[in-house]
Amino acid sequence: MGVNRGVVAVVLVLVLVNLGLVVVNGDDKEIVVVKKVKGKKVCTQGWECKESVFCCNQTISDVFQVYQFEDLFSKRNSPVAKAVGFWDYESFITASVLYQPLGFGTTGGKHMQMKEIAAFLAHVGAKTSCGYGVATGGPLAWGLCYNKEMSPSQSYCDDYYKYTYPCTPGAEYYGRGALPIYWNYNYGAVGKALKVNLLDHPEYIEQNATLAFMAAMWRWTTPIKKSQPSCHDVFIGNWKPTKNDTLAKRVPGFGTTMNILYGDQTCGQGDIDPMNTIVSHYLYYLDLLGVGREEAGPNEVLSCAEQVPFNPSAPTQAAS
Ligand SMILES: *[C@@H]1O[C@H](CO)[C@@H](O)[C@H](O)[C@H]1NC(C)=O
Ligand SMILES: *[C@@H]1O[C@H](CO)[C@@H](O)[C@H](O)[C@H]1NC(C)=O
Ligand SMILES: *[C@@H]1O[C@H](CO)[C@@H](O)[C@H](O)[C@H]1NC(C)=O
Repeated sequence: MGVNRGVVAVVLVLVLVNLGLVVVNGDDKEIVVVKKVKGKKVCTQGWECKESVFCCNQTISDVFQVYQFEDLFSKRNSPVAKAVGFWDYESFITASVLYQPLGFGTTGGKHMQMKEIAAFLAHVGAKTSCGYGVATGGPLAWGLCYNKEMSPSQSYCDDYYKYTYPCTPGAEYYGRGALPIYWNYNYGAVGKALKVNLLDHPEYIEQNATLAFMAAMWRWTTPIKKSQPSCHDVFIGNWKPTKNDTLAKRVPGFGTTMNILYGDQTCGQGDIDPMNTIVSHYLYYLDLLGVGREEAGPNEVLSCAEQVPFNPSAPTQAAS
């Protein structure tokens, strides 16, 4: 009898352990729900990625987890950082929910997905870093130190856009966010796309990390001009260069994402610091994510030192 009871107890424990495992693995993300829409296979994975072919592979949170975010931005909550407590992993993933179904961080399989996340975050890290004065941990460890421009020298109101994106009296359009937004017309455009009134309330960007990441992901996935590709498209290889692009040395890859975002402030001027800083963040993040910097490709792809800028001058970043 005693022996039998012992066996029953062991069986029960095993059953409970198994149930426990089911519960741990059973959050809805693990389940890929597949549907056919107009003959095409689309998938949904929980709240994170809905009704898209891009939701059929792993999602961003499968390939980029909270400890990796902490590794990349390890100094952001140190006492000397300027946005302590603001940025976190959850806001990054929450923001990506709108963009994962479009292919952001979900294209091409795990390796490409991690590279795109590293590339996007490299721009973010480089533009929000305060690593150059306080280099404990090295200058590349200080991404997401800022969430806004600290001492704006002006209010970035361009009257040329007074009919489309008029400045609201009292509003200040200084740099804010993950890929910092400057000027009334940029706040106006991203606000329109995200259906948030940023012309009246540009401060929302420095108050809400999810919104700040959403604005940055919108910029990454949306062409600046209709005739031009988005950063996402050039990075993952959706974009086919025209003859003009080839003559201008614009090739698919990381270098051209800098051309799109910053034009002649960063590109076409040889190996200048503003460009090298962004590239260094990318290589560092590839290493930290375990992809390895050797996967970044040759210099022609990585750099934009020799590229002709898409746009002669990039007023969007004129004051950064
Ligand atoms: C899914 O992953 C495979 C490789 O793992 C890749 O070839 C394919 O392109 C991915 N699907 C999408 C929609 O990117
Ligand atoms: C932050 O912004 C997002 C996107 O607009 C919104 O859904 C969310 O409610 C905001 N959070 C707070 C605390 O206002
Ligand atoms: C190629 O460049 C030439 C000269 O700059 C320009 O006139 C032409 O419109 C461009 N073609 C395309 C397809 O962009």
